[in-house]
Amino acid sequence: MTNKVFLNGQFVDEQDANVPYNDRGYNFGDGIYEYIRIYDNTLFTVKEHFERFLRSASELNIDLDETIESLTDKVKKLAEVNNVENGGVYIQVTRGAAPRDHAFPGPDVKPQMMAFTRSYGRPVEKLENGINAVTVEDIRWLRCDIKSLNLLGNVLAKEYAVKYNADEAIQHRGETVTEGASSNVYAIKDGVVYTHPTNNYILNGITRRVIKAVAEEQEIPFKEETFTVDFLKQADEIIVSSTSVEVMPVIKLDGEAVGNGEVGPITRQLQKGFEQKIEESH
Ligand code: PDD
Repeated sequence: MTNKVFLNGQFVDEQDANVPYNDRGYNFGDGIYEYIRIYDNTLFTVKEHFERFLRSASELNIDLDETIESLTDKVKKLAEVNNVENGGVYIQVTRGAAPRDHAFPGPDVKPQMMAFTRSYGRPVEKLENGINAVTVEDIRWLRCDIKSLNLLGNVLAKEYAVKYNADEAIQHRGETVTEGASSNVYAIKDGVVYTHPTNNYILNGITRRVIKAVAEEQEIPFKEETFTVDFLKQADEIIVSSTSVEVMPVIKLDGEAVGNGEVGPITRQLQKGFEQKIEESH
C-alpha cells in the first residue's frame, strides 16, 4: 500500500504529493515544521509540539487558521490512514506559493500545509551503548528558538559529524555550547545536569522539557546555565536529546572518551524516567 501524504487538506498518494515551483518554502525556506513521535498508536507530547508550532508561525507572522486541536486531528488521521503504530509524523507549513519576492506576499496567498509519516522503532541499541559526537562552530542565525525550515547551519553541522564518523555535531558559539545539529545538549558533572537556558540561541526542545520534569521528580539537580566546550570535555556524562533520539548518551566526544567511556548512572536514571513518561502517555 502506498503511503499517504497530507497536502492542503487532502490525503494524496506520496508519488502525487507535488508542490508548486514558487512555494516560499522551496524558494526561501520560509516556513516552519514539527516532528512528533508515535509510540504504540499514541502521539507523544502532541500538545506541546503544536503549541510550539503555533508560536513559530506567530513569530514569523504566518497566519495559520489552526488550533492545537485541529492540527492534532489532522496528524492523528494521517497516522491512522498510514497505519503507523510506532514512528513519527512530520508536519510543515510554508508562507505559500507566490511570484518570487523577498517581502511577504499579499493576504490572498495562503499558507501551504504538508505532513507525512514514518514507521520505525525506538533506537534501542544506541540508547543502550551511546553514540559519538564532534564539536563544531555554531554558524546559524540568531532565532534558533523558531523551528523554521531554514536548516542550512544544522545540515552543514550534521554533515561534518558524518564526515568524522559521528552521530551528532555539538555546536558552540565561541566558547559557549549551544545545542546539537538536531538535538539539545546536556553536560553532567558531579551529579548536576547542565543545559543551555531556553533563549534565542537554542530550540526549546520538547524532549528537554520532559527530561527537566523527570530530573525534578527524581531530585536530580537541573541547571539551565551556559557552559563552555572545555567544561563539556571534562563532563562525567553527556546526553543529547530529541524527539527521535530521546535521552541519548554520548560516550565519545571529538575522539576522546566521555568520563570513563561508559554510559553513566544519571543518564540511565533519566532514560528510565523518560520511558515511564512514554508509558504514562497511553
Ligand atoms: N529536531 N534542537 C534542534 C536544533 C533540533 O532540530 C531538535 C529536534 C531539538 C530537539 O527538540 P525536540 O526535543 O522538541 O525534538 C533541539 C527534530 C527532531 C528534527 O529536526 O527532526
